[in-house]
Formats: sequence, structure tokens, C-alpha cells
Amino acid sequence: MSNQNTIEQLRQQLNEYAYHYYVLDDPITSDSQYDDLYKQLLALEKQHPHLITTDSPTQRVADKPLDGFKQIKHEIPMLSLGNVFSSTELVEFDKRLLDLAQLNAIEYSAEPKLDGLAVSIVYLDGKLFQAATRGDGTIGEDITANIKTIKAIPLHLRGKNYPAKLEVRGEVIMTKSGFDNYNKQAEIKGEKTFANPRNAAAGSLRQLDPRKTAKRPLMFYAYSIGVISDELSFSTHIDTLNWIKTLGIPVNNLNQQVIGASGCQEFHQMIGQLRDTLNYDIDGVVYKVNNLALQKKLGFVTKSPRWATAHKYPAQEATTTIENIDVQVGRTGSITPVARLNPVVVGGVTVTNATLHNEDEIRRKDVRIGDTVFVRRAGDVIPEVVKVVLQKRPKNSKKFKMPTHCPVCDTKLHRIEGEAVLRCPAGLFCDAQRKHAIKHFASRKALNIDGLGDKLIDLMVDNGLVKTPAGLFHLEKNELISLERMAEKSANNVLISIENSKHTSFDKFIYALGIREVGEATALTLAQQLKTIDRITNATTEELEQLPDIGPIVAKRITQFVQDKHNLLVIDELIKAGITWDEIQTPTADEQPLLGKTIVLTGSLSQYTRATAKDKLIQLGAKVAGSISKNTDLLVAGEKAGSKLAKAETLGVEVRDEAWLVSL
Ligand code: IVH
Repeated sequence: MSNQNTIEQLRQQLNEYAYHYYVLDDPITSDSQYDDLYKQLLALEKQHPHLITTDSPTQRVADKPLDGFKQIKHEIPMLSLGNVFSSTELVEFDKRLLDLAQLNAIEYSAEPKLDGLAVSIVYLDGKLFQAATRGDGTIGEDITANIKTIKAIPLHLRGKNYPAKLEVRGEVIMTKSGFDNYNKQAEIKGEKTFANPRNAAAGSLRQLDPRKTAKRPLMFYAYSIGVISDELSFSTHIDTLNWIKTLGIPVNNLNQQVIGASGCQEFHQMIGQLRDTLNYDIDGVVYKVNNLALQKKLGFVTKSPRWATAHKYPAQEATTTIENIDVQVGRTGSITPVARLNPVVVGGVTVTNATLHNEDEIRRKDVRIGDTVFVRRAGDVIPEVVKVVLQKRPKNSKKFKMPTHCPVCDTKLHRIEGEAVLRCPAGLFCDAQRKHAIKHFASRKALNIDGLGDKLIDLMVDNGLVKTPAGLFHLEKNELISLERMAEKSANNVLISIENSKHTSFDKFIYALGIREVGEATALTLAQQLKTIDRITNATTEELEQLPDIGPIVAKRITQFVQDKHNLLVIDELIKAGITWDEIQTPTADEQPLLGKTIVLTGSLSQYTRATAKDKLIQLGAKVAGSISKNTDLLVAGEKAGSKLAKAETLGVEVRDEAWLVSL
């Protein structure tokens, strides 16, 4: 084969891989295989520089910084969108269009509203020619060199059926995981950090040195077309997007066709639930009339189309000031610094505290009392301080020093080597840990004691009524009634709940003990495998490590727990107080369809976190391993699976996707 042919074949292969990875979301090769081919191409092009073309995958990164950005006038202005903020306003929007169109129902394309930067990308004869920011909608900046570094954007359109000129519009975003990594590295290096993925994406695109942009984890999704030289042969927006996808340009896979305001509302709710699990920020959803002829008929108001609107979600971050910093003692004695904030609404709720994680983190972010900070709250996650606004730092800002002694029990704090956190070693002798232990014991997944809430437990401990979980079973009615706001009836109810909780299952009992690193799945394994409490308290780390899914760390935590005489005493007292459980049944094949199977997880999952997926697999009887070997029975591959997937394929290991896991 001639060099030219080899080079062309390599390029085609690399483009094909990128298309499967970015557009179809279904990789067909490992990163290392891609890199190998890329290196081969690079070497050949070096030998034969005259064969280099501007759309070769090796030509993404220009080797010089720009002097500045040229201005570019958009042939067709880039508009913005109107907003609706409630379902009432959504119904009004739909009604207005129904009246104008004289129809009974309107079909919409419902799409996530990506929180990044709008860009326009022009292809001439299939080649990426020019890219620009939205700017003021009429004039934007020439960011071609930077856009070319984004691997998800093809330098050459796929296939042969593209118009001579095509302008694709869409959003450049930074992934959340990429953003977190970027900020962490920047903090370590003392470089500028970003407040959120959107600012990071914007900053990356407005970078004069494309070599820097190339290192940022950016992604692109197209949402419409601008200028096109040929007449479009499609009658709907969704068909147009599907066609764009065939040209090798990513289109968001959550886009959906819906009917009427109710369809839009359902979509808004569905995406709202997914929001926190997505690896990119969205700030709402967009509804667009799907029929292109109807779009044309409806036309525009001043700066936005009449046929589309955005439906926002509450913002997930806000700025506020830090009034104070103090520390909290966790269930396992971990000492977490917490910022006490000037109250601020984030993600729809008022936030007064935000975690600062640990001392290293405070130092890296250089957070001080008095600072103005960006606070982020995503879903149920604890609000956190993302970034300090240094320009707003007051002269009298105060550095925070971690305490040397536990703020609750005054025991000297420990920092275990290699761990970032400081701990109070007092265990159940520390009132804070005592409260946590009892709360954990009473919680839903443990003994599930109804009506025994956090506030009541705090009161009980503060008044010395209970010292350990076992103490709950010796509570007396007059003691309870003596507590603030505790009437006889509620006291009775609490006592009945406590009594009712005495009969439980063995795995719940083990989980309720609150052994570090022992979650529900591990508790179940211990219960099923060891069957009695004596075998658990007598097991050595070596024996424990033999059990499915128990590694050295978990094994050590379990033996550490039972070596503490005080813990054994509590277990004894609990059993004496009358806690019982049914003999643990060996699960049936029906309940554990994956019994005996060794499974590996890879790639990113959209429905579960890694930990939940692992727990589910274990509950179904599987053993979850970290790496692929010839003993692996099955690989569950999420999105963007890489080397593990490739290895599974070479070893002939069965591969399943996330949908399969969900279906189980
Ligand atoms: S359509 C004429 N679709 O939202 C309407 N925009 O407020 C053109 N955006 O500047 C926009 N996701 O940056 C559209 N699926 C989506 C979008 C989207 C995010 C952004 C875009 C635009 C802004 C409008």
C-alpha cells in the first residue's frame, strides 16, 4: 500500500473511532489502541510532511498562541430564548402557539438546556472552516483554533452527503468531573480556578493559546443549524438533528419528541430528576416547535423565536459570605470544617452551612472567615464551597486553624498518616459520636425505629438518658416525659416503636452496629457467610478477606471494631435486651441470579453511582472485582468504557450494558 493510502486509512480509522466514542456514545476501541494508531499516523506524517492535510486528526492543536481574537459577523444572528418559570407559564406558552397555529396539539422537540457557551461552526465542503462565539448575537469572536482542539467536533464531516456550506450551532460544555479535576490541579499549582463548569468552558475557549485549550475536558452538542447552502429536505427539527448526527457531530441523546404542554412538563420533571447524575451542568430544558414549516409561520419576537422557550431549574450555585468556620464531628469521629454562611438560596433551598471537607482543602482553596465565596448545592449532596472571590476579600478576613482537641469531648485529635481527615479517637465516649451511633442504629436501613428522630436522640444524649444504642431498650416512660416537648402519648409511641424494632434480620443488625466501611451489602455478606455473631466477632482479618467482596481495608475495620471491648459489651447488651433475628436463609437462585459470578464494572453509569451499582450486584449474589482476568464472568460497561472493555473483548468475556443491570 502506498504511504498516502496508509495515511488515509489511519485517518479514517481514527475518525471512525472518535465517531463511535463521541457521537454514538458507544466506543469500539480502547484508548491505548487509539493512541497507537494516532502515533503511527504522526510518525508517517513526519516522514512525509507533504501528505499532511488540515483536517488530519493530528492537526487539532496549533503550535502558536494567537495575538487576539478576530471578530466575525454571523450571517444569521444567533438569538436567545424566552423563558417560562412555572407550569402555568408553560401552559400559557403552549396556548399562545395553539391559537396562532390554529391547531389542537403541538409537537415539540424537548431538549436539555446545556449550561455552557453557544458557538457557531461553519463547514465548507465538509471541512471545518471557521468557528465563532455567539458574542452579542450579531458579532462574535473567531475561536476556530480552539474549537479544533475539541475531539468531539469532527474536522471533516462524515460521509459524502453534506452541503457545500453548513453552519452548525450548539453548546460547548465542560464535564463536571473534568471541571473538578481541573480545579484541583489548579489549586495545587496555585493557578486560577473557576467557579463552575460554564465559566471553565468559557475561559477555555477564550484562551489565546490553543495548546492550553486542548488540555481542557470540553464537549460539544449541536442543537440547530444556521446557514446552509442547500434546501433542507427535512420537515422537522428532530430529523434535522438526526441528520447532523450522521455527519459525525454529537447531538444530545436526551432530546425527545413530546406532545403539548403536558408532554413538556413530564420531560421537565424527568430531566430534573436526572440532573444531578449527568456529567454536565444543565440550567433548564428547551422546548422547540418540531415542525419547521410551523416554526417559520410563527416567526420571531425581537430577539428570540416565538416557537421556542426555555424552562429553567433553580440555580445550583450562588455567592455569599462566610460568617464563621467551625468543625463538626462525624459518626466515625472525622472532624469536618464547616463554613457558616450568610443564608443564601441555592438549588431552591436556603443554605446556611457548607462543607469545607478537610484542612488540606481549606488551604488549597485559601478560604478565610469573611470571604465571599461561590457555594454549590447539587441535589441531595451537602452544599460545598467551590471558590473564593479573591477580589472581594475584606482586609480583616481571618484564617482558620483546625482545633487540636475535639470540640465536643475535648479528646486530643489524631491525624492518621496518609489520611486527609483529622479524627476524634474517643468513639462512643464522645457525645457527638454517641449521637451519630444511636441515630445510625435507629435509621431506616438499620433497626428502623419509627418516631425516634435526630432531635429526640440529641435530647436523650444531652440529658444522659442513653449512652449507647443498647440504652434505648432500657428507657423508661417517665424519663422520656421529662424531656422538652415530650407528651405522654408521644412517649408511649416511641417506646412501642423501640419494642417493635427488637425483632430484625441479622444483616440489619450488623449494619446497625455502624462498623466503619460496613454498608448494607457488606453486612449482608457477613450475615450470609458467617451466620452467627460469634463467628463475626472471632474472625481474623485473613478469614474475613476470604469472603466475597471484603478487601483488606474492610476486614481491618471489622477486626478493629470487635477488638474494642466496649463494642463487644454493647453487642452483648443488645442481645440481652432482647434483640432477635431469624436464622439467615441461604438465598434462592431466584433471589440471587448472579450467584457465583465474578463481575467487573467499568465506564460511567447514568442511573447509579459506582458504589450503588456494586451494592446491587452483590445483593444479586455476584462478586465484584476490580480488574478483568480470565476468571471474570461478565463486564458491565457504562459510557466511555476504555481499556477494560478492550481487554474483556480480547479475553472473550461477556459484556453487558447499564440497561441490563437496571433490568435486573
Ligand atoms: S436553541 C433561537 N437549544 O441557551 C434559539 N439553545 O438562551 C437558539 N442552549 O444561546 C438556541 N441548550 O447557548 C437551544 N438545546 C438547546 C440549548 C440552547 C443550551 C443555550 C444557548 C443559547 C441559550 C439561549
